[in-house]
Amino acid sequence: MIDVKKVRKDFPILKRKINGKPFVYLNNAATTQKPIQVIDAVADFYRNHNSSVDRGLSTISAEAIDMYDNARKKVAGFVNAEKENLVFTKNTTEAINLVAYSLAFSALGKGDEVVLSKMEHHSNLVPWQQLAKLRGFKVKFVGLKEHGELSLQEFEKTVSDKTKVVGIVHASNVLGTINPVREIIEIGHRHGALVLVDGAQSAPSIEVDIKRMGADFLAFSGHKMLGPTGIGALYARQELLEEMPPFLFGGGMISEVFLDKSSWRKPPAKFEAGTPNAAAAVGFAEAVKYLQKLGMKNVALHESKLTKYALDMLHSIRGIKIYGPDAQKRIGIIAFNVGRIHPHDIASVLDEHGIAIRAGDHCAQPLMRELGIIGTARASFYVYNSKEEVDALEGALVKAQKLLG
Ligand SMILES: Cc1ncc(COP(=O)(O)O)c(C=O)c1O
Repeated sequence: MIDVKKVRKDFPILKRKINGKPFVYLNNAATTQKPIQVIDAVADFYRNHNSSVDRGLSTISAEAIDMYDNARKKVAGFVNAEKENLVFTKNTTEAINLVAYSLAFSALGKGDEVVLSKMEHHSNLVPWQQLAKLRGFKVKFVGLKEHGELSLQEFEKTVSDKTKVVGIVHASNVLGTINPVREIIEIGHRHGALVLVDGAQSAPSIEVDIKRMGADFLAFSGHKMLGPTGIGALYARQELLEEMPPFLFGGGMISEVFLDKSSWRKPPAKFEAGTPNAAAAVGFAEAVKYLQKLGMKNVALHESKLTKYALDMLHSIRGIKIYGPDAQKRIGIIAFNVGRIHPHDIASVLDEHGIAIRAGDHCAQPLMRELGIIGTARASFYVYNSKEEVDALEGALVKAQKLLG
């Protein structure tokens, strides 16, 4: 089990007071806080090893290259992938754009279809929607069942031999729902489609093993799993990385350049144009090390227990509407509304009590429309959150309700 008291000591920011109250950070689905180990690893890179990770023949650049390479190995290992299959990106959004642009201009056109769910984050929706306009392919959506779950039968009906790509969020950033990705991947593959899994919320919270999952692409972000901002990852199958055209062009990714043509380095370098964020990659690897030390089974169990506790608490408050499935089917994310009070007002009152949550549409406007609402309040938990913090949330919510309701 996770020793929350011990874990909290690693996070300097949690010692802060906000509005004179102990800081309760419940906006982990947006971004997580950083342990001292990650902060130190980034600082150590800049203090002692900073160099561009080019092929400069200096000791310092060899060190930086080594650190960047080891970071790639560590982050790849976290999802049970080889380092050759892991492209560093800026974040999940860039990883998905990489896949969407590369495929749109090499494999998608009129008559082709891309299938997504209606619970996608804008990151896994807008790129496909915009590229569909440019390239003439069609985007189809699978709707939701009751309790914010997806229907496999709907996937069976929607995916056809015209489907070239299926894009699916592994865990919803609004409903918390853990989707049956293995079954969805199997449906996609049966029709010859490539399947991209958006792991932005799942990689931080549950064990993600790409070999067991079988997806063709997996995208995730460092900052949502204790790592720095500005670094994310795309896993892709080797043949795809070999075949797909680059998404961004420039230095670092080329083999030879002539005035009228160029050739590319082997993947993953082929997809990493420009000077990479090596310091953030080193920090990402340190975050992975931290999570592995805790054990992802323990991380998942901790989140699940805390989520169950919070759901029971929220259900006990009159007038609260909770979105999404039972605790055992979700990660540590709870979207809710308190009567007719605007979620922004809830967030503001909670902030006065030192509690940070998120309020709004959570970059999922089509999902909000599907639910018939403009937005929700959202509490999301991670390894340093405690039952006492859930109790603090309860106290502040009751006060907000009295004040605003
Ligand atoms: C499910 C999901 N996908 C994609 C993203 C985008 O992640 P990033 O902003 O790190 O690119 C998020 C961020 O909230 C998310 O929750």
